[in-house]
Amino acid sequence: MGSTPTSGTVLVSIFMSRYNKKISYDFYTESMKNWEKKGAVRQKRIFKIAGSLKNKTVLDAGCGFGYDTDAIDKKKAKVFGIDISGHIIKIAKEKYPHLSKVFFVSDIKKIPFKDNFFDLIISKYAVHYLNNPDLAFKEFFRCLKKDGILIISVHHPMSVFFLKKSKDYFKKKEITVKIFGKIKISQPSHTLTDYLSAYFLNHFDLLYAEEKQETLKIFKNMKIPEYLLIKAKKR
Ligand SMILES: C[S@@+](CC[C@H](N)C(=O)[O-])C[C@H]1O[C@@H](n2cnc3c(N)ncnc32)[C@H](O)[C@@H]1O
Repeated sequence: MGSTPTSGTVLVSIFMSRYNKKISYDFYTESMKNWEKKGAVRQKRIFKIAGSLKNKTVLDAGCGFGYDTDAIDKKKAKVFGIDISGHIIKIAKEKYPHLSKVFFVSDIKKIPFKDNFFDLIISKYAVHYLNNPDLAFKEFFRCLKKDGILIISVHHPMSVFFLKKSKDYFKKKEITVKIFGKIKISQPSHTLTDYLSAYFLNHFDLLYAEEKQETLKIFKNMKIPEYLLIKAKKR
């Protein structure tokens, strides 16, 4: 998995400041292998709908440890990765030293790039952490060129509805999901129209949508879409 970020037995893994967790170093390395295995399946789907990335300027928004950023770079795009967690960006830079200058600590609600800069923005499993996804969509709109493409994937509102164990689909609630199989992190619940919002539909043309059960199958004996994948074009 490339160079390791820390020596010693314990690593502080941070998924945004509210998700500070301590995990053992061995657990971390093992988890990263699994994470990248699942990531490979998700990545393949995104690349399939993205088309050629050659010579495109691409933002990986909420890039995490940089696995996709590196894959986008390999497709001969000019790529940048941003993530709100300084710790995660530090790991990304150490894992992919050739990309150390293109990773930035930044919130997707305030993207540090000028208007009309990107041909493509990919945001995989990050937008659902926002209370208001429109705040990211506004920034994606601003930073994309005209006719630029946005691809996002999020936890599907249907699976979130089941996870929040409420009879009220519309009521906002923080739900808890597990990452790395055991670390609990929380995220706000969202409805479908939080994503396909008036802002989104007024500023982007929806080109493609996909909802499927994921590889991780969090709902045993049930068929429930675990992710929602959307491709849209800036108007
Ligand atoms: C589930 S991980 C996904 C990482 C990567 N996109 C992937 O698919 O492997 C979610 C990432 O989004 C980042 N994130 C959450 N909220 C964010 C925000 N407001 N701005 C930027 N990054 C954010 C987290 O720090 C975390 O690295």
